[in-house]
Amino acid sequence: MCGIVGYVGDRTALPFLIDGLKKLEYRGYDSAGVAMVDGNSALVEKCEGRIQALEERLLHNHIEGKVGIGHTRWATHGKPSDTNAHPHTDCAGEIAVVHNGIIENYARIREFLQKRGHVFRSETDTEVMPHLIEHYYEGNLEKAVQRAAKDLHGSYAMAVVSTKEPDKIVAVRNLSPLIVGLGQGENYLASDIPALLNHTRETIVLEDGEMAVITRDSVRVLSLSGEEREKNTFFVPWDPVQAERGGYPHFMLKEIHEQPGALSETLRGRLSPDGRVVLTEMTMTEAEALAINRVFLVACGTAFHAGMVGKYFIERIVGIPAEVDLASEFRYRNPVITPGSLLVVVSQSGETADTLAALREGKARGCRVIAITNVVGSSVAREADDVIYTWAGPEIAVASTKAYTTQVEALSLLALYIAQMRGHMDIYQLNEYVMHLRMLPRKAQETLERCAPVQELARELAAHDDVFFIGRGVDYASALEGQLKLKEISYIHAEAYAAGELKHGTLALITENVPVIALATQKEVLEKMISNITEVRARGARVIIITADGLEGLDEYSSSIIRVPDTHPLLMPVLTAIPQQLLAYYAAVYRGCDVDKPRNLAKSVTVE
Ligand code: AGP
Repeated sequence: MCGIVGYVGDRTALPFLIDGLKKLEYRGYDSAGVAMVDGNSALVEKCEGRIQALEERLLHNHIEGKVGIGHTRWATHGKPSDTNAHPHTDCAGEIAVVHNGIIENYARIREFLQKRGHVFRSETDTEVMPHLIEHYYEGNLEKAVQRAAKDLHGSYAMAVVSTKEPDKIVAVRNLSPLIVGLGQGENYLASDIPALLNHTRETIVLEDGEMAVITRDSVRVLSLSGEEREKNTFFVPWDPVQAERGGYPHFMLKEIHEQPGALSETLRGRLSPDGRVVLTEMTMTEAEALAINRVFLVACGTAFHAGMVGKYFIERIVGIPAEVDLASEFRYRNPVITPGSLLVVVSQSGETADTLAALREGKARGCRVIAITNVVGSSVAREADDVIYTWAGPEIAVASTKAYTTQVEALSLLALYIAQMRGHMDIYQLNEYVMHLRMLPRKAQETLERCAPVQELARELAAHDDVFFIGRGVDYASALEGQLKLKEISYIHAEAYAAGELKHGTLALITENVPVIALATQKEVLEKMISNITEVRARGARVIIITADGLEGLDEYSSSIIRVPDTHPLLMPVLTAIPQQLLAYYAAVYRGCDVDKPRNLAKSVTVE
């Protein structure tokens, strides 16, 4: 997510803007910029890269403005570049805007404005905002912003300054956070609390659909239709470290809880009102879609487990064979790639060396390549023929959580999209999948709310040195992801097995009280799973079952059953990932491990 800061007061704005942006660096960004207003002159300075690069630019291009806004960009629409960095301005350079979120209908607005002579300079969705405000401006900045905001569809937190009214910041919140900080003879704005803590702890939290008009000695909060709103102030008790994590003790726990929002953002604009999948970013033609006769899903680690679920989507939804490869294996096994082969690479960072090498190998052999990644402008994004971005926002913890669940979601969107293009699915089947997808973010939230018992189960697991995960079908992929989460942050030896495989060797390791996490969400193999659970119980295993609403007959097999809400069977990995992430998280905490930065591991493995 991007970072936003703003200052209005008696001092020059720049020191606060730079300090505030630096406090938001932990969120991850690829470019930064500021806009300051001093009477009827405005300065906008912005560049790709770190805040230090911006500071160097400002040494040669300084202004004493006492009103200003700043931004760190996590690219969504438009690659990281000086031009795409925020702030963006109107034609005359008199209105400057910074934005966090996604404007779904920006293309239509851009076209509307271009027809009226507005000249655009960037590839971003954001740039429509200053031009739209300029279009509506008739002498009152907040009214122009209100009218512009009503035209915008999507998620946005925006801050606006203008030489037309140089004593104020106008800010609007809609699905992206914005907080006003209250000072003495000065007031502040930020997208996140850490940017404020060096200056104030008295804050006003804006709600969705609210606008703030901020001057040096006043803060008015209005609805978008102009009604004044009475707001309580909120004292921020956190220290700066807690504030960076949104009050959570670790980034991983914060990111686990961000999953409903990440799932919602990844769906945003991609499900049409009539129940179809819309991937405007895809360039693949219908002929190319019809020519696909095999799909290779290639990734590493957690992304590989998402790819395993993707195999089920492709085969069940599109009806063509799919195989999943570890990138480090794919690139050396001389894969049989024939015309019509589609390569799908999955990578949160988009920089994993093995995955990037596999992409290049597949491309060199004639594959069409689609990348699913969380980082705009990453290497895989640049080198693939098409990219489907997960909009999970920066994932700071080494252990991947929200990236995984949004990867699974994105893979389901891809499969549905290809099936649509190939005419392989009737509208009723399509609508059923889309209905389940629409409900997924809310069901993820419900899953989080059901996970209170997980912490105590994790305490129990923390005392063990070996834990096993079992499942069938997509539950096996879920089990593989669960074991990886547990071992990579708690250092407990964990293994996952296809439940039907236990009797071929692993059962020898199932002894008295050894924990077995059984994933049992697939109705068609539930009876088989019950048999496998019985097998391990007979050898004394301590069984914890993760299942779904509506699946009965399991209560007698374990005193510890975690139920996730019902959803489409193929989407179950999104929900069952959550209790497993929390099991791993709390077990690691109980074992005193460095949850966010586990030993020996890196967030992005850019070496082979
Ligand atoms: C997952 O928790 C690990 N951090 C690791 O397995 C990771 O998924 C793997 O390195 C792939 O990273 P990528 O998605 O950035 O390519």
